[in-house]
Amino acid sequence: MTYLETTARFYAEAAETPNVGLCCVQSAPLSLPGLHIPIPMQEMNYGCGTTVHPAELVSNPTIAYVGVGGGLEALQFAYFSRQVGGVIAVEPVPEMREAARRNLEAAAEINDWFEPEFVEIRAGDAFKLPIDDFAVDVVAQNCLFNIFEPADLAQALSEAARILKPGGRLIMSDPIATRPIPAHLQADERLRAMCLSGALTYAEYIQQIIQAGFGQVEVRARRPYRLLDRQTYNLDSHLLLESLDTVAFKVIIPEDGACVFTGKTAVYAGAEAAFDDQAGHILQPGIPLAICDKTAAKLARFEEILVTDSTWHYSGGGCC
Ligand SMILES: C[S@@+](CC[C@H](N)C(=O)[O-])C[C@H]1O[C@@H](n2cnc3c(N)ncnc32)[C@H](O)[C@@H]1O
Repeated sequence: MTYLETTARFYAEAAETPNVGLCCVQSAPLSLPGLHIPIPMQEMNYGCGTTVHPAELVSNPTIAYVGVGGGLEALQFAYFSRQVGGVIAVEPVPEMREAARRNLEAAAEINDWFEPEFVEIRAGDAFKLPIDDFAVDVVAQNCLFNIFEPADLAQALSEAARILKPGGRLIMSDPIATRPIPAHLQADERLRAMCLSGALTYAEYIQQIIQAGFGQVEVRARRPYRLLDRQTYNLDSHLLLESLDTVAFKVIIPEDGACVFTGKTAVYAGAEAAFDDQAGHILQPGIPLAICDKTAAKLARFEEILVTDSTWHYSGGGCC
């Protein structure tokens, strides 16, 4: 059996017997005015952060959601797209498709604004999405791509890029590892399926996104997710996993490299009226300007500029 077959079997079981807390961080699902989430759908919250960022979802976008789980985020996306077929959810596991259908029908009974047809559930997988080129504004996945081995991850990211319109957004939430996960855990297919042992480091994860052709990446959140303790997991020392929420834009990668925003700012402390780096950044004295990490590295060379640390929260608006 391959690790992908083990994963499919694992999620067939998780569809039939909800596994509360399987992946999610200890936070309540995003609540929105007039959005009511059926209890069985809440119990199948198998995500590790959130991919539903309201500011990305203006103008009734069309959304492809990869790995539907119990349908929680598909419902939340439908809240914003509000059109028949506005959310296309792709899911290879029949039991999970069935559970999501059931939960979405239950959601329609308690949400006036929602019709089950707003979410179209398609059989298929992340490596060959059953969706045309340039078809959607947003592709989202939560706590799935971390399961994939690097070559499969590259294929899944390239599929996401293929179906996105130019300028479209890939919104993801995944665990990342604070140091490389040892081979004996990576090879454990069940731990991988549980989103515990396939995670890349932050740098590897961002690099994979850029390699798939995304010229701008924004970090929306980074927080502790799970601890792999040394006794249980046979490690030299405890290994912390974090969950990382990102939005990546399908825009051309600039010649000097992609723009990655992690919440850094630059502040000019010199005597002039302003500082102009001749690359599009004009700093007013004493006023922080949000910048990407690439620009931060360039500006940090100037004595009269203070570059602040990553906050790991950047909520949009590119500078480059
Ligand atoms: C950890 S769950 C996340 C579910 C959902 N995103 C959420 O936040 O609750 C992973 C989901 O991806 C599905 N899945 C597994 N392998 C997949 C693949 N190769 N392509 C697409 N989805 C897959 C699983 O069946 C499951 O529904």
